Amino acid sequence: MTASDPMTTPSTPPVPSTPPVPESAPSPPALSCRGLSKRYGDVHAVRDVGFDIAPGEAYGLLGPNGAGKTTTISMLVGLIRPGGGHVRVCGVDLAADPMRAKARIGYVPQEIALYPELTGRENLRFFGRLFGLPRRALAGRIDEVLDLVGLTGRADSRLKTYSGGMKRRINIGTALLHRPDVLILDEPTVGVDPQSRKAILDGVERLVGEGMSLLYTSHYMEEVERVCDRVAIIDHGRIIAEGTRRELIALVGGADKVELSLDGDLETALAKLRAVEGVIEAAMTGAASIRLLTEGGRYLLPALITAVDGCAAVTATQVIEPDLEATFLHLTGSTLRD
Ligand SMILES: Nc1ncnc2c1ncn2[C@@H]1O[C@H](COP(=O)(O)OP(=O)(O)OP(=O)(O)O)[C@@H](O)[C@H]1O
Ligand SMILES: [Mg+2]
Repeated sequence: MTASDPMTTPSTPPVPSTPPVPESAPSPPALSCRGLSKRYGDVHAVRDVGFDIAPGEAYGLLGPNGAGKTTTISMLVGLIRPGGGHVRVCGVDLAADPMRAKARIGYVPQEIALYPELTGRENLRFFGRLFGLPRRALAGRIDEVLDLVGLTGRADSRLKTYSGGMKRRINIGTALLHRPDVLILDEPTVGVDPQSRKAILDGVERLVGEGMSLLYTSHYMEEVERVCDRVAIIDHGRIIAEGTRRELIALVGGADKVELSLDGDLETALAKLRAVEGVIEAAMTGAASIRLLTEGGRYLLPALITAVDGCAAVTATQVIEPDLEATFLHLTGSTLRD
């Protein structure tokens, strides 16, 4: 008989092993860090880094070479001890309970670490067993993971015959076997072929669509813009801005440039364009071109074309919307790829 048998203990209800969670209690962040710091001699690799990633959120860490992305991740996954700060994974303190915290993470390092003589499937099996996944469940899970990374057709070739991008896809697969809550990818597309890059980005979007939380680091801003809900810009070890793509772009003013090529009376056209609602600035940039700074960019084009009707004809248009690259340049004074 057990203490929880209702027949033997009618007056004392069974005690659940964990206290019930009130229905209104919010889930803890999938990943949370505060005050993370790391020094290597005189180099402050990471300085006071902190952020929260909500369950199901895709969070990007965008920064140039040497910004501190890998050092930050190494502390988040417990590979190096922080000089300061702390990490929680799904509410579990990494320092206090590393095994339980790490079990919730799937980590794909920047460097590929696989066995060249084994096939893709054998590599996955090896790492699955290493994680302690039961043999019976593993075979089916490996098939799912191979499908996710788009390598079902090559699963039984030796790894040494794979392209760099395919190896990286298997590396990502190893991190997914145990169904982690948070996937951490450190520059997953550096040096990979376009086909693998597409497979990686599609796979990542699918996982996030299914509810996985993601930390994605890259110095390719177009990838971060595509995949991530929120982005932190990191430079010289510090997070210098954080927000959605729109919020970050708003830091540089958020205005769109519109370039118009025109035939006709440009002086009159200029005056008429300046009067259009949404036009912030307009100036002639040549004998047949006008540049405008606008709110609304492409959506303003019909109004701009109508405004000059009668004095000039628009022969070509170009809209340049600001992106994270522009934000990065604005905040740091340098480009992401220098
Ligand atoms: N083990 C180490 N010993 C000494 N310095 C280090 C070590 N690891 C990193 N650094 C330094 O810390 C800084 C941050 O490096 P980190 O690898 O975290 O940057 P990163 O953003 O990942 O760059 P990349 O885009 O090149 O991968 C750099 O100045 C780097 O030289
Ligand atoms: Mg790195």
